[in-house]
Amino acid sequence: MSHLENTAGTALVVMAHHRADSLTAHTARRTVAQLEDAGYGVDLLDLHAEGFDPRMNAADQPDWGDRDKPYSDEVRAHMRRILDADLVVAVFPVYWQSVPALLKGWIDRVWNYGFAYGRSKPRLAGKRMLWLGLAGATSDDPITEGMRAVLETNLSEGIAYYCGFSHSSVALLPDAEERPQRLDAEGNLLVGDAVAGAEREAQYAEFDRRARKAVEGFLAAEPVAG
Ligand SMILES: Cc1cc2nc3c(=O)[nH]c(=O)nc-3n(C[C@H](O)[C@H](O)[C@H](O)COP(=O)(O)O)c2cc1C
Repeated sequence: MSHLENTAGTALVVMAHHRADSLTAHTARRTVAQLEDAGYGVDLLDLHAEGFDPRMNAADQPDWGDRDKPYSDEVRAHMRRILDADLVVAVFPVYWQSVPALLKGWIDRVWNYGFAYGRSKPRLAGKRMLWLGLAGATSDDPITEGMRAVLETNLSEGIAYYCGFSHSSVALLPDAEERPQRLDAEGNLLVGDAVAGAEREAQYAEFDRRARKAVEGFLAAEPVAG
């Protein structure tokens, strides 16, 4: 974790993947570099590498009668990292049209009552959130548009705006699988051929380009708060 001096503000990049050689981790690293180039000091939170336990526990379960409940030291350290950030960028593989359990558990435990919600003056007000989700579905699969809408409702409306964020958007990056796949009308999973060589390079370059554009668009959408 690094808190760098910066001109544009501080970005917390939350990476939710169990493999450092995944496309998700690759995309997170490129996003960190892009944010640094844009003048942000970046705090990279690699949930798996840091050993974050997504399971709710008694210490971090909200007490609806006490919004000042002292949560665990681990959770309080994570809250500090969110407070220090102007932007939060979550980079994750889409699992079941949602975030993976690792990221969901981070939200469950850390975006807690009395911190993220339940105050007349939201502590996260002024911050901006980007949800950068990698999806195995292909961009021309009809399921993709519905998935985008579900994620926007769940993540932006249901979580970020509920917690007082000033801006939230979901950028869905389809075609994240090496082999294209879809279900046919009978429910069979059809898996296409893996691409290789120059074609694969081109596919990855195109994927990187779309990810970069999504982050660029997000940064351009609104001025830095505060
Ligand atoms: C448990 C699980 C659930 C998934 N659910 C979806 C889904 O709902 N929609 C989708 O497009 N892809 C889904 N996928 C595919 C992943 O999004 C895809 O494998 C991932 O983005 C590839 O990136 P990675 O190599 O970094 O893991 C799922 C994969 C797994 C393992």
